[in-house]
Amino acid sequence: MVSKNQFYHISLALLFCMGFWGFQVTCRTLQDDVSMYERHEEWMTRYGSVYNDPEEREKRFRILKKNVNYIETFNNAANKPYQLGTNQFADLTNEEFIAGRNRFKGHMCSSILRTTTFKYENVTAIPSTVDWRQKGAVTPVKDQGQCGCCWAFSAVAATEGIHALTSGKLISLSEQELVDCDTKGVDQGCEGGFMDVNYPYKGVDGKCNAKAEAVNGATITGYEDVPVNNESALEKAVSSQPVSVAIDASGSDFQFYKSGVFSGSCGTELDHGVTAVGYGVSDDGKKYWLVKNSWGTEWGEEGYIRMQRDVAAAEGLCGIAMMASYPTA
Ligand SMILES: *[C@@H]1O[C@H](CO)[C@@H](O)[C@H](O)[C@H]1NC(C)=O
Ligand SMILES: *[C@@H]1O[C@H](CO)[C@@H](O)[C@H](O)[C@H]1NC(C)=O
Repeated sequence: MVSKNQFYHISLALLFCMGFWGFQVTCRTLQDDVSMYERHEEWMTRYGSVYNDPEEREKRFRILKKNVNYIETFNNAANKPYQLGTNQFADLTNEEFIAGRNRFKGHMCSSILRTTTFKYENVTAIPSTVDWRQKGAVTPVKDQGQCGCCWAFSAVAATEGIHALTSGKLISLSEQELVDCDTKGVDQGCEGGFMDVNYPYKGVDGKCNAKAEAVNGATITGYEDVPVNNESALEKAVSSQPVSVAIDASGSDFQFYKSGVFSGSCGTELDHGVTAVGYGVSDDGKKYWLVKNSWGTEWGEEGYIRMQRDVAAAEGLCGIAMMASYPTA
């Protein structure tokens, strides 16, 4: 789909290049721009992107170009354990990506149903590999869209997991239905992070009415926290059921993660809720957490990320061991 304008744009650029052999550097830059322009077109078609005006399009083109260069430079560097890719976030700056996708902060509530015991404390028979997808306890990857409900997706996936394990039935729960967390008496919807849902989640400043009710036949009685900053405790929990975890997902490498065992860089400013649905060891011997995200299947490994496990820091990579919890049934 080459528009007339773009055709002229390309032709002129090529003519310019052919006419000035001496300025090879300039020409290469121009040719790069032309092919990058085409890549932007292809990317727009693939992700159904529409821009309101030429200025916006130009701005997005520049951002995409910068991101593509970042991704290609990263992937071409030697000894990278994981690869990045040009996904649906390619025309966003990292700042925009953070603002639009991660609204997890401050949305955790405390629940009356929270218990301080860790029921998997004495679990000893821990398999070396766990993948709850293969046990029929994980629904297909969802896409939170522009809505900042990642925390709900994380809780839903863990709830779907425990429901499947106790009932033998895998049902896809709706994030809209899940938690009842009403702050200031107003349903703040997705933007505020709270909707009418029936999962005992934590409310801002503890002002949360948590109620555990049957949701589409899935009943949970509460949740327990995994002992903090302890990856071996997290391993015990994940070997028993899918676990809701919070991570720092704000880095560019996370934004463009494509495949492999992700090893950072990232911090420990928890801003995103995801679900640990297993763990294992990669073909090249790297221990990882198998993590389900809610950004659709274009991101990462079909919507999943393998994150390095058993790192030196007690918090785990990207803080994965800092705030893990699982629903009880
Ligand atoms: C774990 O074992 C210890 C020692 O037997 C016991 O006191 C504790 O209650 C057990 N914890 C759980 C959660 O079962
Ligand atoms: C981590 O948790 C396990 C319980 O699963 C416990 O035995 C161990 O002592 C904990 N480690 C630390 C450093 O707290």
